[in-house]
Amino acid sequence: MPITPTEQIWFNGELVPWEDAQIHILTHTLHYGTGVFEGIRAYETANGPAVFRLTEHVVRLFDSAKIMMMDIPYTVDQLVQAIKDTVRATGLPSCYIRPIAYYGYGEMGLNTIPCEVDVAIACWPWGAYLGEDAVTKGVSMKISSWTRHDHNTMPPLSKTTGNYVNSSLAKVEAIKAGYDEAIMLNPDGLVSECTGENIFVAKNGVFRTPPVTSGALPGITQDSVTVIARDHGFDVRVAELSRSDLYVADEIFVCGTAAEVSAVNSVDDRLIPCPGPMTKVIASEYAKAVRGEIDRYKDWCELV
Ligand SMILES: Cc1ncc(COP(=O)(O)O)c(C=O)c1O
Repeated sequence: MPITPTEQIWFNGELVPWEDAQIHILTHTLHYGTGVFEGIRAYETANGPAVFRLTEHVVRLFDSAKIMMMDIPYTVDQLVQAIKDTVRATGLPSCYIRPIAYYGYGEMGLNTIPCEVDVAIACWPWGAYLGEDAVTKGVSMKISSWTRHDHNTMPPLSKTTGNYVNSSLAKVEAIKAGYDEAIMLNPDGLVSECTGENIFVAKNGVFRTPPVTSGALPGITQDSVTVIARDHGFDVRVAELSRSDLYVADEIFVCGTAAEVSAVNSVDDRLIPCPGPMTKVIASEYAKAVRGEIDRYKDWCELV
């Protein structure tokens, strides 16, 4: 997806012109994949742009860093404020936000302890990641031949840049094979998540979504839609799922900050009813919640 430049990027404590946010070719993280990042969205609301669940995203960034033994040289509150400042500087009513903390220039080798940590925040306009009609027409999924990280190989709870080699291999494999997105199984052969989304699978009126022990990232959208779905009286459980559970599902959707709520129309060419009735309700309520249109979820929207 092409990037549309905006005016400024927050770079180590100050807003600099977009084109000046440059790094050296020997930046440590570029070589070893040791950075941590977040994907966040700001939405247009009646009171101006609001960042959806901003503090939770920044806390997860710090959790990712802690797992990597990286000391981010700012506090959660400072980065929350920096993100608001960056969004405001773009002048956009809504945007995608990408904070990243990474080991910078000055050291080489796998020991990250002596490395300095740099932080940047960029914002740009970004449409629906899996397509504008992902809710109505749905997306086609392929079970990946790549296995999602085992907890003792790479830390799936950390949004570490290097983790996304696994996601990227799976994504490209799925697209080359003619599908929209991949579903990852974990080393036990159970469903984990997708390359950048969590998954919800309904059968006989019960939605199941895999636990973090399956290797899934604890998704903030996963949490939001669970709250919304339960508020609508739907039965949502955190539970293990097999590959066959996907093939015989009554409805499936995937969700994440970038993809929002996207219905699934097939898994490995087995058709899934799409969009399912519960998926439609959840997608529409989520779309209203992120725009601050539902009082009950207003606290999730942090005005800039
Ligand atoms: C691997 C992976 N799973 C799930 C998600 C969904 O997480 P969230 O809803 O917090 O964006 C993401 C996106 O950050 C992701 O990269």
